[in-house]
Parts: sequence; structure tokens; C-alpha cells
Amino acid sequence: MKTLVVYYSLEGNTRYVAERIAGALGADTLRLVPQKAYKNKGLAKFIWGGKSAVMGERPALEPYDVDLAAYDRVVLGFPVWASNFTPPLRTFVLDNQAALQGKELCAYACQAGSGAEKALEKLRACLGISGFAAQAVFVDPKEKASPQSDAQIDAFCERLERGAAGGAW
Ligand SMILES: Cc1cc2nc3c(=O)[nH]c(=O)nc-3n(C[C@H](O)[C@H](O)[C@H](O)COP(=O)(O)O)c2cc1C
Repeated sequence: MKTLVVYYSLEGNTRYVAERIAGALGADTLRLVPQKAYKNKGLAKFIWGGKSAVMGERPALEPYDVDLAAYDRVVLGFPVWASNFTPPLRTFVLDNQAALQGKELCAYACQAGSGAEKALEKLRACLGISGFAAQAVFVDPKEKASPQSDAQIDAFCERLERGAAGGAW
């Protein structure tokens, strides 16, 4: 199954997972880059990012070159911001609604504490689907990397490898 991992990452945690998935599955990755970068330091990071997430903003992205038709499965990865998924992913989903139809959709969220379940629910609503084929939540998987958290990522990769046909969701 040809897989694309689409993700946004401000501080590298979501990227860390995307790269592990890519390595395990031989998947391609697409990193979303907003034209106006979010601040990544101090209080401003939480104020601007949090406000953008709460307002449901749809920031312009740097152009990307991807043919979604070439993929059977899309894995969406994001950091949780104010119990929501990150705005750059909203832009991607809304810009590619038609092309995402009929794909097997999976998702993972990276968080520091809580809010991932709500964020995944909001992402499902944005996509207009009732469930992901597979989903996972990781706690700062790069910043707090440990054999246990890496094993959790590997377990998610194995579920993806087995695929929906394996009936193992
Ligand atoms: C603006 C902002 C809002 C955040 N809101 C939450 C939150 O509601 N719940 C939570 O557990 N973590 C929250 N975090 C922490 C990140 O979700 C977490 O550190 C994540 O692993 C970062 O992923 P990244 O390195 O890919 O950007 C927030 C971080 C930022 C910058």
C-alpha cells in the first residue's frame, strides 16, 4: 500500500514520528510549511499558535508538489495546539478535500499533556469521516524519546504495515 505521511511540526516531535513511519514503511513524507512561520520561542509561541488554533485559521502554505492520486493511504500527523489540530493541516485538508476522498486515512497526534483525543475528533469532523483506519497519540516523542516511546511508534508502524486488510485495527 503506497503511503504518504503529511505533517506539520513546529519543534520536531511530529517530524520525528513521520520519519520513523517513512523508514519503517518506505512511505513518502510531505512536510507542511506555512508561509508565515509560527514563533517557536517563549510565550509568543503559545499565544500566536494557540490563538491561530482556537480561531481555526487556515494559513497559506509554501507550495508543495505532491500527486495524491499516487497514494492509497494518507497518514496525517500534527502537534496538539489548544486541544485542536494545527492550522497548517487544516489548510491542507480543506485544499485537498476531493483528492482525499476514498483514501485510507490514518492520523497521529503529538502532545505534551492532554487534548489529543479532542484534536483528533476535530480533524475527523474537518475531513467529514467518522473514524481513522488507525490513530495514535504520542507524548513529546522526540523531546522525551525513550525506548518505551520509540516502541510505541514502532507499534503504530506495525499496525500500518499490517494494514486494514489484516483486520488488526
Ligand atoms: C501553541 C501551542 C499550543 C499547545 N497546546 C497543547 C495542548 O493543548 N495540549 C498539549 O498536550 N500540548 C500542547 N502543546 C504542546 C505540543 O503539542 C507538543 O509539545 C508537541 O509534541 C509538539 O510537537 P512538534 O515538536 O512537532 O511541534 C502546545 C504547543 C504549542 C506551541
